[in-house]
Amino acid sequence: MNHAPVPTPHNGAKSGEIAKTVLMPGDPLRAKFIAETYLENPVCFNTVRNMFGYTGTYKGKQISVMGGGMGMPSIGIYSYELYHFYDVDNIIRIGSAGGISDNVHVRDVVIGMGASTNSNFASQYELPGTFAPIASYELLEKAVNAARSQNTNVVVGNILSSDIFYDDNKNSSNLWKKMGVLCVEMEAAALYMNAARAGKNALCILTISDHLYTGESLSAEDRQVSFREMMEIALELA
Ligand code: ADE
Repeated sequence: MNHAPVPTPHNGAKSGEIAKTVLMPGDPLRAKFIAETYLENPVCFNTVRNMFGYTGTYKGKQISVMGGGMGMPSIGIYSYELYHFYDVDNIIRIGSAGGISDNVHVRDVVIGMGASTNSNFASQYELPGTFAPIASYELLEKAVNAARSQNTNVVVGNILSSDIFYDDNKNSSNLWKKMGVLCVEMEAAALYMNAARAGKNALCILTISDHLYTGESLSAEDRQVSFREMMEIALELA
């Protein structure tokens, strides 16, 4: 364990203020909403850059929720500090994704068993080949079991963590689609690599908010339903 001084430049929490398991939506206001809606006695531990973080309890177990921002550099910073400086063991990203595969539809809940990427994040490890960023099997199994007991259908497979939202190359998603990739989001691969390097656990649970091929997108009402299904799975991992 690499104990750097805390607080860090990005996180105002003191030692012991963050639970062993952290739920990480991209949007810090989503983190605030989750804390205020689902947790008992939530206490705010971070306001630096308005990247709100809270610790509370769920069904008697301590759990934290903190925003991770958009993109791999952002979640890379926050997750690194949580794993290395705050002794966090499990980070569960919860977010939205754009459907790529014909096997996923808007409203579906997808769990990223693996996270392919077009990012250069892995170059820091100087590996003599390519690294396969994968979810923690333990968290994945628990999440699938929680989904089953809640009668929520989940699609489990490979997702794409992209550095590019507005992609000039209109063919790139076709190439990932041919490889069976389910959907695109922008953070999981960095989270999975940070977890691997730290010897910790990570999982990414997503709702499909739009589909790149069918052009469907979720209404505000549908967004709430699938968000709730995803949250109920994630909270069971506390
Ligand atoms: N998150 C939700 N929809 C997305 C998309 N189309 N691309 C990347 N990230 C997303």
